[in-house]
Amino acid sequence: MPERTPYIAANWKMHKTVAEAAAFVDALLPRIAATQHDVVICAPFTALSAVVERRYGTAVKVAAQNMHDEPSGAFTGEVSAPMLVELDVEAVILGHSERRQLFGETDDALARKVPTALAAGLEPILCVGETEEARDAGQTEAVLEHQLEADLADVGAADLAGVVIAYEPIWAIGTGRTASAEQAEEAIAFVREVIRRRGAAAEQLRILYGGSVKPDNAAQLLARDEIDGALVGGAALDPGSFAEIVEAAG
Ligand code: PGA
Repeated sequence: MPERTPYIAANWKMHKTVAEAAAFVDALLPRIAATQHDVVICAPFTALSAVVERRYGTAVKVAAQNMHDEPSGAFTGEVSAPMLVELDVEAVILGHSERRQLFGETDDALARKVPTALAAGLEPILCVGETEEARDAGQTEAVLEHQLEADLADVGAADLAGVVIAYEPIWAIGTGRTASAEQAEEAIAFVREVIRRRGAAAEQLRILYGGSVKPDNAAQLLARDEIDGALVGGAALDPGSFAEIVEAAG
């Protein structure tokens, strides 16, 4: 892999109470004590503080799974960047396909959220990916290009290196169907090409693969030069299997 530090993120989605989150972190930390990688736990809002407290003094970073683009306001049920920063959260997933498909997350909102996160000092983990229909229709690149251009429209060239992008083909999420290492690398190389048009940040920016990453397929995916890490859902609910994926990154 080039100089880019591998980035392995656990996306817990709507799993883990505070007690369960604490038990996970306590079990994970000794297993990854020697890692040089970026290890990130994307916890539900309610468990963020518990994870933050346990990881002080370790390499683990903590991320939220969504945020609003306004700092405060009449937005019932939402959480803002300053609220996350106050908790010592360092990153935030934006545009996960479940948010896009189930909760009406739009590219317009993401175009505001990504620069808002960066301005607040939160590392955005921007998710992009095509549906099965789009892939079958040969539209994968068009979908990725559209999402990247829309969602990153207001991010300056100098700030792009601070964004992490997760390529997550929707047909591979939670389905047990993983993109082959070739498919993932091809799509990620295309994502980097789109970013390269905006400047040199393309060589620094980390691009992850997500979609049914497991201990038994992680090494194959992460061995690819273009694949800088993984966003892991189901297999990140168990500290043992998540630690194996961290190790598989080399
Ligand atoms: P999965 O989820 O690993 O369970 O497929 C990945 C994701 O949705 O980020």
